[in-house]
Amino acid sequence: CSPQPAKLPDDDFLIIAHRGASAYAPEHSLLAYELAVKMRADYIELDVHMTKDGELVSIHDSFIDGLDSKKAIKDITFNELKLVPRESTFKGPIPVFFPSETDLIRIVSTEEIFSHFRDEVNYYIEIKSPQSYPGIEEVLLKQLRDYGLLFDKGTVPQVILQSFDADSLKKVHKLEPSIPLIQLYSVKNETIPTKRKLRKIATYASGIGINENLVTAEFVKLVHGEKLHLHPYTVNEEEAIRRMIELGVDGVFTDVPDKVEGILEGM
Ligand code: G3P
Ligand code: CA
Repeated sequence: CSPQPAKLPDDDFLIIAHRGASAYAPEHSLLAYELAVKMRADYIELDVHMTKDGELVSIHDSFIDGLDSKKAIKDITFNELKLVPRESTFKGPIPVFFPSETDLIRIVSTEEIFSHFRDEVNYYIEIKSPQSYPGIEEVLLKQLRDYGLLFDKGTVPQVILQSFDADSLKKVHKLEPSIPLIQLYSVKNETIPTKRKLRKIATYASGIGINENLVTAEFVKLVHGEKLHLHPYTVNEEEAIRRMIELGVDGVFTDVPDKVEGILEGM
């Protein structure tokens, strides 16, 4: 019989910096993560894929433009990926209080992120498209162990893992049951999970992540009734942030961690 899912603290409202503080810097760059830390986010969120040479990299899409042709991440080496210009992924101005060093905005590997931030931040890591990357779970878990990130030192877990792929989460739960897992739901689905489905999820995961537009008071009650936490994405507008807090969700993915922090402070 499989172990109980890890516990998430009930009293904390988690600010999860979606792709870093991605309203203020190119997403998934060290700069975006640095800003999230400055803005006192509880977690930096990473979307993880694996390159042709087995490097885990933090980037949202499975494909990349910007070289001679569009290529899948799994067909490109990390060294090639490092050369892809990132300025175009960000519409706003780069904050003036940071130097415009290429290394701060280029695509980075998880090892670079872990060696940069060590255990001084908390990581909320999404395993993207795991069916395209056989063994990605083992590679990620090895890195987390090697960097000493599986021992919680603060009030919240140092690492939370998330995926849309239930099989990948179940595999992680077997390999390393101490890590809290979040089952993601796609906006494209547009059907919220039933009580029966939530009960199944609660056998391996500690919570679910779902599009903010699908969150209602009834749904929050349903999720909490199954002892699961609820982290809606991606909550950026003031009205939506207030609505989520008032509905009693357990945290939000947001591009604007400073705004969420400000609203929480004022409540
Ligand atoms: O991981 C939660 C949320 O980030 C899922 O959407 O597409 O931004 O990874 P996406
Ligand atoms: Ca994500």
